[in-house]
Amino acid sequence: MPGLIMDNRPAAHVSLRAVGHRFGEGTWLFRGIESTFGAGDLVAVTGPSGSGKSTLLSLVAGGTPTEGTIERGEGRTQWVFQNPYGSAHRSTADHVALPFLARGMSRTEAEPQVQGLLERFNLSESSAAPFRTLSGGQAQRLMLARALAAEPALILVDEPTSQLDPVNAGMVIDVLQELAGEDRTVLIATHDPRVADRATRRLVLGDPDGAS
Ligand SMILES: Nc1ncnc2c1ncn2[C@@H]1O[C@H](COP(=O)(O)OP(=O)(O)O)[C@@H](O)[C@H]1O
Ligand SMILES: [Mg+2]
Repeated sequence: MPGLIMDNRPAAHVSLRAVGHRFGEGTWLFRGIESTFGAGDLVAVTGPSGSGKSTLLSLVAGGTPTEGTIERGEGRTQWVFQNPYGSAHRSTADHVALPFLARGMSRTEAEPQVQGLLERFNLSESSAAPFRTLSGGQAQRLMLARALAAEPALILVDEPTSQLDPVNAGMVIDVLQELAGEDRTVLIATHDPRVADRATRRLVLGDPDGAS
């Protein structure tokens, strides 16, 4: 079944052709976006607040732009929301286990992978802590760990470092770069120049010349 074996994960491939979007009769958020990216790419979507970064991510996730086309290849897409959400009384480990259980694994089978993901995101110490007791930064890292548990080919991450201190922000950026290195496609909306500096591709919004 898809997703259980990493080597069977289909490569994501995304092509944006002359993409423009506006809501109703409102002003264009962006127009003329041209970009192709795929496995191995870390794509930074940058621009001022309100320039349409989150909107562009949602279009790549499966929306329809006002003009132009977006082609998406095979592969699971996983969105990591800007605002962490979870079940207040469930533990950190339970949140990460859920995508494995949803694919038919037992909790015992999933446990080593769950602990590995918690370790990767510096969450091992709060493995048993209920979601409601996590700090904003811990919850944000948990969202990334849970997203990875779904073994996506394409990961869309909205402002992943906005609630993190510099040490954890650096750690999250390292992990996002590693994920792209593992032949995933990582698309990040961000204000953080440290993320943009590591990107293999950049989409700059709020710029009349559009994307590069
Ligand atoms: N569903 C929607 N309907 C109408 N306007 C929207 C909708 N979603 C976002 N907007 C508007 O589009 C603009 C861009 O929003 P957004 O994509 O969230 O920008 P960013 O993520 O760069 O801050 C904002 O002015 C926002 O209010
Ligand atoms: Mg946004």
